[in-house]
Amino acid sequence: MDYLWWHVPILTAPMLIAFIATVHVFVSHYAVGGGLFLAAETTWAHKTENRQYLDYLKSHAKFFVLLTVVFGAITGVGIWWVIGLASPLATETLIRTFVFGWAAEWVFFVVELTAAYLFLSLWDRVTPRDHCTLGWLYAGASVGTLILITGITAFMLDAGKWPEATQAGMNGSAFWLGFFNPQFLPQCVARIGVALMMASTWVLFHASIFVKSEELKFLIVRRTARYVAAGVVLSAIGILWAGAILPEAAKLSLMRAAALNVILGAGVIAAGFLLFQLFILTARPQWLTPASGLAVLCAAMGILTSGEFIREAVRKPFILPECIYGNQVHVSKVEMLRQNGLLESGVWTKPYVTEKFPHLVDAQTGKLVLEQARPEDEKALGEIIFMHHCGGCHAQEFGYSGLGFLSTTSEKGEIAEMLPRLNSQIYSMPPWCGTAKEADLLAVYLESIAKPHPFQKSGSQKSAPQETETQKGAAHAAN
Ligand code: HEC
Repeated sequence: MDYLWWHVPILTAPMLIAFIATVHVFVSHYAVGGGLFLAAETTWAHKTENRQYLDYLKSHAKFFVLLTVVFGAITGVGIWWVIGLASPLATETLIRTFVFGWAAEWVFFVVELTAAYLFLSLWDRVTPRDHCTLGWLYAGASVGTLILITGITAFMLDAGKWPEATQAGMNGSAFWLGFFNPQFLPQCVARIGVALMMASTWVLFHASIFVKSEELKFLIVRRTARYVAAGVVLSAIGILWAGAILPEAAKLSLMRAAALNVILGAGVIAAGFLLFQLFILTARPQWLTPASGLAVLCAAMGILTSGEFIREAVRKPFILPECIYGNQVHVSKVEMLRQNGLLESGVWTKPYVTEKFPHLVDAQTGKLVLEQARPEDEKALGEIIFMHHCGGCHAQEFGYSGLGFLSTTSEKGEIAEMLPRLNSQIYSMPPWCGTAKEADLLAVYLESIAKPHPFQKSGSQKSAPQETETQKGAAHAAN
């Protein structure tokens, strides 16, 4: 209510975040796992003085630094930009809650970027020992960034004791309670596993294109396979652990949403496919071709995407648990909005409605009197309520979870009746945050975009039995 709404047609703003974030995590996990891989493998190659492998690692490090630094940084900044627009209240709260976490994150980033640059540019120009130290410095800093960011993303799924601590005004300890939330450890294990898996599949894909020598291909497949296997095992442990202690509401959401069941299944199938491919490639490394390399990379991306999608979806109705709902309303404001109205209470909605519909403003109190809305105003007012209350999770007529299709109606008034009980059936939605009059206005808008019920023609089926009852009664009376 404190901010403007950012309307992204068809896709919805959270899905736009999801797209950018998904592309970002492919690269950011590679940045962490690749750091560990390059540090460990360079150390091994220096120790065994394997010139051929060292040359390959150098060419991979070039690709790695270019991709992770340039692409990772652009998409990382992109995420901040988009979440700031899409969820300003939640972003503001995250920044304030974790300000020292973010500061530490940026220190780690600077170390990471510097080490990556030196590791690559000083290749063959410093002693093998110093070179390995640079590699491990990079790896350590990048694992540090992963741990810091995981504290915060895990918090968004289960804030642990943070809400109570902030309510009690214990802001100092609230930071630690929020950071070391119940999901923190399992998600760190899962993410390190995924990072190893992502990195090794990127290596296989890169090698499948650039390595021509059979002998080198054999070596790379055999060395990389351990990382994929370790990655799959660690991520399986982390995901099962995180799943077992998932908050009750999140568990229910995962089990009851058909789409999430399918996505979970797809993730498991992708993991099976990855292991199967790996098993074949270790037996027959010569079968590492650009096509099989890409297949392995896509399988790892599929696992990561399904995990991230589920993590995001089961958080609903909250953006920040027990604190901020998906429609940018603070939990403590719901009652006030029900009393005073959403349009009246919004920092931006009030002046907007005042300017567009001056006849709704009471001359004495300066308040909006929505009862004075003319029939031709109702749809436009309803649309403003839609934008603020529903548009964060639903598209309009068409698009992601579009309400035009979700609210098929056969009866006039059905939608208005449902709105005050918005979250009673589907608790992934926030509770109704407006007055009864606002529910009527929103219903007018929703009815205007709703598709008619395909089997029940308007007013026919439902009212038919009633009519017969009355007719029967009339007939009875006549007799
Ligand atoms: C925090 C996200 C969120 C917000 C905000 C939200 N919804 Fe939903 N809504 C959901 C989810 C999740 C579902 C169930 C999954 C689906 O079918 O897409 C759902 C389903 C629905 C359905 C289908 C119900 C059914 O029985 O299948 C309707 C109708 C609906 N929402 C209307 C609204 C309206 C109207 C608003 C605004 C007043 C709103 N939603 C706000 C998340 C949200």
